[in-house]
Amino acid sequence: MEFTTEELKKTLSSKTVEIGKEILIYNEVESTNSIANELLKKGYPSGTVVIADRQTKGKGRLGRTWISPAGKNLYMSMAIKPTIPPKFATLLTLTSAVACTTALRRLTDIPVLIKWPNDMLIEDKKVGGILTEVKIEGERIKSAVVGIGINVNMTENDIPEEIKEIATSLKIYKGEDYSRSLLALEIIKEFDRWYQLLEKRQRKTIIDRWMQLSGTMGRQVKIILTDKELKGTAEAIDEEGRLIVKLSDGTYEKICAGDVTLLRAK
Ligand code: BTN
Repeated sequence: MEFTTEELKKTLSSKTVEIGKEILIYNEVESTNSIANELLKKGYPSGTVVIADRQTKGKGRLGRTWISPAGKNLYMSMAIKPTIPPKFATLLTLTSAVACTTALRRLTDIPVLIKWPNDMLIEDKKVGGILTEVKIEGERIKSAVVGIGINVNMTENDIPEEIKEIATSLKIYKGEDYSRSLLALEIIKEFDRWYQLLEKRQRKTIIDRWMQLSGTMGRQVKIILTDKELKGTAEAIDEEGRLIVKLSDGTYEKICAGDVTLLRAK
């Protein structure tokens, strides 16, 4: 990372309400999400940010591995204690996707799009992902960790063969290197802003923005669920963050989990 913890904290001070008052930067961790969880258990405040140069067991969604080489990409987790009811937990991921996409667009001018629920795409290739882990206690969210992975300066050679077709980086698209610290700062600021809106129950503002930034709406999607596969048109996001899909027989299905594959453009 180009900046030290102190420089990051100083740059952020007075710019955020909650996120980034505490920031920890590591050379190597198994997963920043796991560290963020441990820090919460140790009593670190909501808004604590963990960043690592490299992950040895980077976690993706659905039990996948997140490729996390040293010195190239951004691996960052935010430990938070949201007060929203558990049924809105998916909105944490959507909020984070809005924040990351806004930050990426501002910093790079690349027209990054969101694919439900958590992917950030450049020309249909994945440039970033979000893994949100939520702990629920009774009727409330006890804590949550929002983990963000952005492929920043990876080159084609750094991307394993098996994901070359589906993954990209800011550098591959633009041909230039980006500062991971500046990107982290932008994301933290944006996340703070959108997360405060979520905490203030401004869900519609977040969902409307998500829809604007989404490359999924109006497109044909294939949804792979554990027990079946669905095909239809992605129509909207409901207030709990579920994807509403219109199936070929005219009925609607609300999707909360599973994998969404884009079939073709509008
Ligand atoms: C996905 O699209 O599958 C989600 C990827 C999330 C990766 C990030 S990298 C930082 C944080 N720590 C992890 O182990 N995973 C997330």
